[in-house]
Parts: sequence; structure tokens; C-alpha cells
Amino acid sequence: MGESNWPQWLPVRDDLRDQHPYGAPQLDVTVRLNTNENPYALPGAVVDEIQHEMSRIAIDLNRYPDRDALELRASLAAYLTSQGAPALTVGQVWAANGSNEIIQQIFMAFGGRDRCAIGFVPSYSMHSNIARSTQTTWIDGERGPGFSLNAEFIVAQATQASANLVFLTSPNNPTGTSLDPTIVLAVATALPSALIVVDEAYGEFLRDRSKSALGLVSQVKNLVVSRTMSKAFGLAGARVGYLVADEAVVDAIQLVRLPYHLGAHTQSIALVALRHAPLLLENVERIKEQRDRIVAELTAMGLAPEPSDANFVLFGGLADAAKVWSDLVERDVLVRDVGLAGMLRVTAGTQEETTIFLDSLRAIINDKSANYTNSESKG
Ligand SMILES: Cc1ncc(COP(=O)(O)O)c(C=O)c1O
Repeated sequence: MGESNWPQWLPVRDDLRDQHPYGAPQLDVTVRLNTNENPYALPGAVVDEIQHEMSRIAIDLNRYPDRDALELRASLAAYLTSQGAPALTVGQVWAANGSNEIIQQIFMAFGGRDRCAIGFVPSYSMHSNIARSTQTTWIDGERGPGFSLNAEFIVAQATQASANLVFLTSPNNPTGTSLDPTIVLAVATALPSALIVVDEAYGEFLRDRSKSALGLVSQVKNLVVSRTMSKAFGLAGARVGYLVADEAVVDAIQLVRLPYHLGAHTQSIALVALRHAPLLLENVERIKEQRDRIVAELTAMGLAPEPSDANFVLFGGLADAAKVWSDLVERDVLVRDVGLAGMLRVTAGTQEETTIFLDSLRAIINDKSANYTNSESKG
């Protein structure tokens, strides 16, 4: 809703008047590959256990939930350790309603008026969006060729901006590219009075899992790693995100979190999913196969996919990305136009969905009546 659309009487904040709510277009199509969701429904065994748990907790819904979500945080710590992270205390883990709420809590505790945050575009636009809603100055940092970033470039831009918060998204949305932990370590060391936030929403999809920054958390005080159960666990609808950091960071977040922010049902669903982590994470391997297949087949089509460590692929080489996007919609396939010239982003789906996407795209760009690809990217 733009400025002119607000009713006169509505005392909406001046700095919000010309803003628009965040959200991808929601179209009713068969193949939805636009919001980086996990395409697999929860397995029956997990659904059954969730149903059982819901009847159990329903009896106590007159009571507030565990305000500190201690069982869930312990279970998240154990999960991360099982994935190769060093041992973590419950006090180093914090959970909220999706990693979006985690990011909002970080901004509320460490951002705000007279504070500055920087992130390196293109990246996840909720970082700048939440900066705005918390009245934190936001700086769009730059990337080098091929969306690359190195420690010197990050530190120089963060220093120039006097940034209190530095957002490094790895794997990055929408590029799919990731940062080596040596870069994160160098940035955190060079900027000791800034908080370095590594958004690892897609961490489980890394080709090399040792590239996660989780291994640094216990040795680097000014580092926060944010993660989610929305993607790898296929729990986007349950809204569970979490962060791992020094205990002092988690303590500071207590100053801004709402009491009882995480419902009993949310905590319970997350606990069930964590108990079934090995089963649920089998889908991560299937999705990674489809992601790698997309990269290979798009390359064979003469397009230019970015190497991806996430569950999606950003690809270029399109003369008219908006036209290809709408032609895909006509074929019942929804991908994301992220506003980068000549590029689109596609989420890796099931094998069947991915086949429909690839076949549709192939048919579109092979249509000789239109010039859909950049000739220089061919061959
Ligand atoms: C980089 C990144 N971070 C965070 C999120 C938010 O995820 P959620 O709030 O579902 O945990 C997303 C969602 O797409 C994302 O792409």
C-alpha cells in the first residue's frame, strides 16, 4: 500500500507511509518453485507423532508455554552437534518463530536509532526490511564480480559505514553462493565491536558442510549464526528459527523478546521434527540432487547458473527474464524474478517438479519465434 492509499486518520509512522509489505507473489499454479520451500510433505510417522503430541498438549493450553523453550533449545544444540558443530550449551542457543523473528530480535537488541547495519546485495531483503521497521540505518554493501565477497572488501565497507551489525548470508539468497568460514573469522576479528550475523537459513544444503560458520561460534564472541527449520526440515508452516551465539548475545535478546513468544504447539512440533531429524534430512539429499541437476541442465541449455550451496539456483543468460517468467507461469510453473537483469531464481523441487520446470524452460528458450537467451552466454 503506497502513501496515498492510507486513510487520512491513520497515524501510521511517517517512515512507513511509502513502504510495501514484503512477500512473493502467490499464484495458483501446479509447480511452485518460487519461495525456496522444501517440496516434501512431512512423512506419515512424523505427522502421526505431531497429532499425538497436539492432543497431549491441548489439555494444558490454559497454561503459558515454557517461556525459555529449554527443552527445544537443548534439542537444537544436540542436533547441531550431531551435524558436526562443536558442543553447545543451551545458553548459546535461542529459538523464535522463524529465523525472521530471530533477525527481528537481533535488530531490536543490537540495532535501532543511531545504529547502522550493512548487508551485501543482492541478498535476503528482509534484513533491510527489518532494519527499517526497527529504525536502524541500513547500508547496501557491494559485491565483487560473480557476486563474490572477500574479507578486505567486507571490512572496508563495514568500517566506512561504521556498522554495528554486519549481515553475511551464507548460502546467500538469491545467489546460492556461500562464504568460507575463514572469511567470517577474518571479518569478526577485524571488527571486534560489531556483531557479525551469518544467516545460514540454507546451511544444511551446503555442498561442503564444514563451510558452516557454526564451528566458529564458541571461539568468536561477536558472531551470531542464524538458522531455520523452514527449509531443511520442511517446517516452514510451523515457524521455527534459531540462533547460536555467545551466551551474552542470548542474554541480551531476553531484553526484547516477548514473554511466551514461542507457542507450546510450535515447541512441540519442533521437538518431534528434531527427534526424526535423520529421516527428514534424507529429503535434503534428494533436493541437493535436483539442485545439482538444475545447474547441469541449465548449463547444457546454454544458460548461466550460479554455483549453488542452497536449495535453489539463480541463473542468467536470459535476454528478457520477465517474459520467460510469465511464459513459465503460462505453463503452470512459478519461479522467482528477483529483479536482477537477465536472471531468474528457481527452487529445487521434487524430481517430477524439476523435470516439468526444465522441460518447460527448454521449450520456451528453444522457441525460435522469440529471442529468449543472450547469445554470448551460449555454447
Ligand atoms: C536467507 C534467509 N534467511 C531467513 C529466511 C526466513 O526464514 P524463516 O523465517 O522461515 O525461518 C529466509 C526465507 O526464505 C531466507 O531466505
